[in-house]
Amino acid sequence: MLKQIMVMSLTAGMAAGLFGYVHAASGVAEIGAQPALAEMPDGYRDWPLIAVAHEEGKLDDLRAILGNDIAIKAFREGAVTYPDGTILARLAWDYHPLEESKEAFGTPQSFVSGVPKNGVQFMIKDSQKFASTGGWGYVEFDDGKPSTTAMPQACFSCHSIVKGRDFVFNRYAP
Ligand code: HEC
Repeated sequence: MLKQIMVMSLTAGMAAGLFGYVHAASGVAEIGAQPALAEMPDGYRDWPLIAVAHEEGKLDDLRAILGNDIAIKAFREGAVTYPDGTILARLAWDYHPLEESKEAFGTPQSFVSGVPKNGVQFMIKDSQKFASTGGWGYVEFDDGKPSTTAMPQACFSCHSIVKGRDFVFNRYAP
């Protein structure tokens, strides 16, 4: 009898767990959980450099903003809005004090890119597909896979501050 009850509650628990999972998964689908890119674009690490950035405070890192051919052409032409097919990548590294710089300058002077940070972010322009987020798809890759925690709505919301520059904060630094 006891054994039967245990088996029954175990089965019920598993069903609830499964239901919970299905439910959560469909909830995600409702808010458009398909990542803007399923995989990191081939060769993105070799794309041309658009700008660099330094984040202070808790983030404390150095960044590079790269763009594909469509992106770099648009930036060079001083585009106000970016054409479909534009992809921007944002990489970050620890803000790292260069040991040797003390010897070179007599005081800690040089800070360089250190260990790469997890979390490579992309913005992909497709005005139809991503109409609900200003024409840009947002995705972060953690350990090479689309993040399950970095939500595109949050990216869009913050990037809306620069809506007048087509949601792009950085400017091209020639
Ligand atoms: C709280 C505000 C905020 C959030 C949230 C945010 N960003 Fe940004 N993002 C910025 C700022 C500010 C910059 C410019 C400074 C820099 O490059 O670090 C930037 C730069 C970028 C760039 C380089 C292009 C540009 O706009 O200059 C990309 C690509 C990017 N973010 C993608 C994302 C993605 C993808 C997400 C969500 C996973 C995201 N961001 C979330 C504020 C935000």
